[in-house]
Amino acid sequence: MQSARSSPAERKRSCAERAGTARAQGYDKMEKKMLRTVVCVSGGGTNLQAILDGIERKEIANVQIVRVISNNRNAYALERARNAGIEAVCVSPRDYADRAGFNRALIQKTDEASPDLIVLAGFLVVIPPELIRRYENRIVNIHPSLIPSFCGTGYYGLKVHEAVLKRGVKVTGATVHFVDEGTDTGPIILQKPVAVRQDDTPQTLQRRVMEEAEWIILPKALDLIAGGRVTVVNGRVTITE
Ligand code: GRF
Repeated sequence: MQSARSSPAERKRSCAERAGTARAQGYDKMEKKMLRTVVCVSGGGTNLQAILDGIERKEIANVQIVRVISNNRNAYALERARNAGIEAVCVSPRDYADRAGFNRALIQKTDEASPDLIVLAGFLVVIPPELIRRYENRIVNIHPSLIPSFCGTGYYGLKVHEAVLKRGVKVTGATVHFVDEGTDTGPIILQKPVAVRQDDTPQTLQRRVMEEAEWIILPKALDLIAGGRVTVVNGRVTITE
């Protein structure tokens, strides 16, 4: 995010700010530009479903999912996309000789959808730095803990919840953040706590974190971004009322 290669002006630029610019130029809410959004997935796609439902229920305004990309051709998330009439694309590392080839294909499949916003909704792929730089402050990730706890390299999927239970913390939760070149280090947009129960297993905790936090804050964050209410300055997010 705060890469040495980008100028301060570039660092401040985000889709949210561009939406704010549109407002300043006299567009009213109805005329506000739809954010073309690519959602990247690897598994079941319940977070993708939460976004689709949020759009359907008009709890998320000005977000249009234009493409869903998965690294896993068997991901049920791809089925959810097709059921919603959204283009579903698989970019599997198995189809490329090396990581560089996969990364190039991932970037190409993303770019050709001309996204304003990219959402990583359970995408178990290390994002190529080139993609992160190209879409600075325009890539959003959902992580199933309260960052900066239980995050970073190795903390994904059930491993997060196993570590939470092992440490014995009483509160966990989820975080939506912009993606920078670190692992789970980008500007935090929203967080929501979830109580840990004494009888939780990693599986029950994972499910409750999804139900009580992830499926709520990810759609909400997209609505805030598309509403021009999220700005990033010096690596920190401000949300305007
Ligand atoms: C979620 O727990 C998310 O936080 C993590 O991967 C899981 C994805 O679940 N990054 P789903 O594919 O959205 O159902």
